Amino acid sequence: MNKFTQLTEFTPKHQHRAYVNSAVRFHTPCTKEDRLAAAIKAGWNVFQFPSKFTVGDFLSDSGTTTPTIEQLAASLLGDEAYGTNWGYEQLLEQFEKTFGITLLGDDAEWEIFLFHQCRAAEHALFTQIGRGKKGLIIPSNGHFDTTHANIEMNGIEALDIVSVNDHFFLGNIDTTKLFRTLNTENVPLVYCTVTNNTMAGQPVSLENIADIRRWCDKFKKPFFLDACRFAENAWFIKENERQRSTIPEIVHEMFSLCDGFTISLKKDGLANMGGALCVKKGTVLFEEYPDILDNLRDHQICTEAHPTYGGMSGRDIMIVVEGLKTVVTQEYLDSRILQVRAFGDYLDELGIPVVKPFGGHAVYLDVDKFYEGTLMRREDFGGISLTALLLLNGPRLCELGAFAFGTYDPKTGKETFPPFNYVRIAIPRNKYEIEDLFYAADCIKNLHNKRDFIPRAVCTHGKEKTLRHFKARFELQYK
Ligand code: F0G
Repeated sequence: MNKFTQLTEFTPKHQHRAYVNSAVRFHTPCTKEDRLAAAIKAGWNVFQFPSKFTVGDFLSDSGTTTPTIEQLAASLLGDEAYGTNWGYEQLLEQFEKTFGITLLGDDAEWEIFLFHQCRAAEHALFTQIGRGKKGLIIPSNGHFDTTHANIEMNGIEALDIVSVNDHFFLGNIDTTKLFRTLNTENVPLVYCTVTNNTMAGQPVSLENIADIRRWCDKFKKPFFLDACRFAENAWFIKENERQRSTIPEIVHEMFSLCDGFTISLKKDGLANMGGALCVKKGTVLFEEYPDILDNLRDHQICTEAHPTYGGMSGRDIMIVVEGLKTVVTQEYLDSRILQVRAFGDYLDELGIPVVKPFGGHAVYLDVDKFYEGTLMRREDFGGISLTALLLLNGPRLCELGAFAFGTYDPKTGKETFPPFNYVRIAIPRNKYEIEDLFYAADCIKNLHNKRDFIPRAVCTHGKEKTLRHFKARFELQYK
């Protein structure tokens, strides 16, 4: 080693980001009173709160990515043609490179359907899967809420069977339950969400994906991935299962094991808009659904647009082309996931109950543990109160627990609750510096110190509604 390089050899305590800022946006100056007035007007519903008053907007990691200058430059080259814009071919080439699938040429093994976002792709797929059929069940390690809703709206049961056995891969499907379901139920396809957003953003192992493939082969069933956070999932596979492989190699292996996938390009597409459904041709799916490609194409044309842009503008398409290049680089993913981890570690040091190990895109607070020893009960929706009060400091978080996934029966007046009770702090990609996250953690710590005095959240509107967390209004009240 050279003398000079030797002198500068050390292990830094802090890791630099993989990028620098090339444009910034200043916060809108506002007072706590401005925020209070806005929060009351919003019925303390975080979704209705104006983003201009947030300092640290952790509502979602979806569509909130700060673009790279390469993406911005590419967007200027977007071709807004009605048919076969020039970005479309680039997009197909990039999908081929990123996912290791073939889409171009006469011998292409896959077909792609573009949508404006993933839920439109889910809607198209499950409309076809459910059409004219009864008694179907689609098992998954964890259906996202829109996936779940799209499945059930088509008369199919959405079943979550997450495993609790693996040390690193807490997002895995329970293969014993999968076997039982395949053996006894009418399953049109098996789904696996990488990473498992519903289960605190936990990753799925390559071994688990390969096991699903084997069971699907045995029972002659198609296997689809919900691939929204595929690159983050690949990072965890590299860390804990495949140290010697590169991220692109792992991604190719993941996608070689499935018969199709839906993807929101608003996550690991690093774009602000976009979604896709990709289907491998000639698989077992076509035995039950021989016309599915034609039907999906008709659905796409009727509800979205021409197949070569499908609900995305030419600019969006170019942004995705660039995003899919960046997202599988080791530097980007290290920077991304280690930032989430540093934030989680800091919350943990502060004594805030967090779900561990940390997933790829968010840190989840355990609401039941947060209020342990206080008078707060699940029916008091302490997660809602916490997210509501935090708005006054600036950070916006999202309750994904007793309220979002609970239900109210107006006939009996009873609430039912999900098995977990979380608040999610989703970290947008390339947007915040660690200080912003530490600030949010300090605000949470302040309320944790005062947890005995946090009021309950009483739902004054919408508690009986479907997807009620988007629509409800609350009052904060002391008992
Ligand atoms: N699947 C998963 C695993 C998701 O996390 C999401 C969206 C979707 C499908 C639907 O994608 O928004 O493009 O229609 N998740 C966002 C979130 C909304 O905040 O977790 P979309």
